[in-house]
Amino acid sequence: MAIHIINHPMVQHKLTLMRKKDTSTHDFRDLLREIGMLMGYEVTRDFPLVDIEIETPMQKTIAKEIAGPKVVVVPILRAGLGMVEGLLTLIPSARVGHIGMYRDESTHEPVFYYYRMPSGKDRTVILTDPMLATGGSACDAIRRLKADGYYKIRMMCLVAAPEGVKRLQTEHPDVEIFTAALDNGLDENCYILPGLGDAGDRIFGTKN
Ligand code: PRP
Ligand code: URA
Repeated sequence: MAIHIINHPMVQHKLTLMRKKDTSTHDFRDLLREIGMLMGYEVTRDFPLVDIEIETPMQKTIAKEIAGPKVVVVPILRAGLGMVEGLLTLIPSARVGHIGMYRDESTHEPVFYYYRMPSGKDRTVILTDPMLATGGSACDAIRRLKADGYYKIRMMCLVAAPEGVKRLQTEHPDVEIFTAALDNGLDENCYILPGLGDAGDRIFGTKN
């Protein structure tokens, strides 16, 4: 399935600011929220419209309305939370689910700890996580969503490694990937290069 690289100048500019190591926690969080909203335009670009009749102060007319689908935004905790507010600014009626997982520091495998979704399996899931590194966390999250009955899933990240993209496309070829950058690869600790470091720590200021 397709990978969409969002190369809009505003997204690219904001991403560069996020990559800089001296960018503050406050600015990092604000930028991620802004990019979340901007990327939301692309993630929802093919949502169908229907014609409805409305009345302006001047006359009746036919206008466009989103026909669906209903949306559930699902951040992978913690870092995925940083993109939720921007998406909700764009899609205020969206529901929000949560999937909790962290990467084990030595195996780099995801460790699952939380799952909570709203009702309505026919909703389009926008799964958010700024970092797609090995792809282990995203693939596990998607596997759990599918096992729970969700079948329309889009992956929205910020920085992706080729390794993670390949794994996601192999394990879940039906899931479209939206990212602002496809980086060079992974280091020996499975961090993305050049990347932006540990997204969760940079959002929440938890680096020791
Ligand atoms: C990071 C990131 C992804 C995952 C990506 O989370 O937010 O969830 O690693 O790596 P992968 O593609 O190799 O699975 P982390 O484990 O640091 O947890 P956190 O968001 O709570 O900081
Ligand atoms: N998780 C992060 O937060 N950053 C990376 O580069 C890889 C995984």
